[in-house]
Amino acid sequence: SEVNHRYKLHYHVTPPVGWLNDPNGFSYYKGEYHLFYQYYPYDSKWGPMHWGHVSSPDLVEWKQLPTALVPEEEMCFSGSAIADGDDFVLMYTGRINLEDDLFYESQYLAYSNDGIVFKKYEGNPVLASPPNNSPHFRDPKIWKHEDYWYVVIGSNTEDERGRVLLYRSLDMKTWDFLSVIGESNGDMGYMWECPDLFELDGKFVFFFSPQGMEPQGNRYKNIHQTGYIIGSFDYETFEFVPEVDFKEIDFGHDFYASQTMEWDGKRFIIAWFNSWEVPYPEGEDGWTGAMTMVREINLVGDTIIQKPLESMLKLRERNIWTGDLKSMESVEFEKTGEVIINGDLSQKIELLLEGSDGGESAWLRWDPEVGKVVVDRGVAEDVRQMEWVPINSTSWRLFLDASSIELFCGEGEVVFSSRVYPDGNWRLTNLSTQNLDVEAYHLRRSIDE
Ligand code: FRU
Repeated sequence: SEVNHRYKLHYHVTPPVGWLNDPNGFSYYKGEYHLFYQYYPYDSKWGPMHWGHVSSPDLVEWKQLPTALVPEEEMCFSGSAIADGDDFVLMYTGRINLEDDLFYESQYLAYSNDGIVFKKYEGNPVLASPPNNSPHFRDPKIWKHEDYWYVVIGSNTEDERGRVLLYRSLDMKTWDFLSVIGESNGDMGYMWECPDLFELDGKFVFFFSPQGMEPQGNRYKNIHQTGYIIGSFDYETFEFVPEVDFKEIDFGHDFYASQTMEWDGKRFIIAWFNSWEVPYPEGEDGWTGAMTMVREINLVGDTIIQKPLESMLKLRERNIWTGDLKSMESVEFEKTGEVIINGDLSQKIELLLEGSDGGESAWLRWDPEVGKVVVDRGVAEDVRQMEWVPINSTSWRLFLDASSIELFCGEGEVVFSSRVYPDGNWRLTNLSTQNLDVEAYHLRRSIDE
């Protein structure tokens, strides 16, 4: 079918056609990075889930590969991937719908030897149901530690409080239940999706995406959140002990169901650059859904910082503007761009992003007196703002794609990821009067169509 390209992203993963949601199977196998995604190729709405597949040499240039998993009796819900010697193993949730809205979810495996063609394991499912038999039992994230494979899986309690379960196995086929890694005390949502547990800079980080968490002031303003708890984890007792409260990882409008992977001593994160129950304007163009750009994460104190990858630099195709913010009036970007603002951030910044032919717009504001960065898409209840105290680095780095903005403040301690839909090109107008150094670039395409 026909795809209209007006909103199609140039350097973020999108489906060639049809619907995309969560990142799945983010991994490294035989010299390449792999990313899979929740995929429905036959409509730009959610439908029986497949796994789409892309690969990359550097997490910036991506190429589409054949669909990796196709639903049969089971829909292929979210999961992860891991290299086991020559085998590339996918562990995913098989979702089976029964009558009257009843369903159940179990864990399945699929194998490949070339990283392209996957065969489902005949002994599926390998993990049928959780100890309390909740039908919600999904999104396995697998890793290896010493002799064992470990997996965390999203689930909930009988009275619908989100929880995450930990299992281990010697062969990925027989799994032993170990512990509850975390559980909502009642005000953190009815289901915890897409869990992740890993060591980062000397601590353990427990990620998950709670559904149905109530907003609290400027926090948790998305319908569904993604965030983390810092703590300690013990491979003898299998206990995760939280040390800090749940924190959102991204403060923009669109960041959900993230997944991380480690390679080469670095920890990378990617997320679905949308969420459930929000408008999807690109849907009428024959495609829906995108991935955020990949970021590298580190722990500084008890906060995760997100950094754009070094390899993003090679997308800079030409400089569009360099100079003092004060003298910058309006700059037009041909669909994509990167803007770096550097200097003494005890001064205000106010930028307006508009479509050259209208459409949606966004304001980006920094007021040091208020101490908040604001991303405002022009809908009153939907303004995103977060406290920010510039510490080491006094810079803003803004990435624009055809229908997205990603704003990194300072070292990446405050990041906003939002989809915004301008008509035509991006026009950036400066409304501030400060002396700050600005560099603006056009970014080239890094995804084949
Ligand atoms: C998260 C999620 C997962 C599930 C998948 C279905 O966005 O709801 O829990 O596996 O999407 O597409």
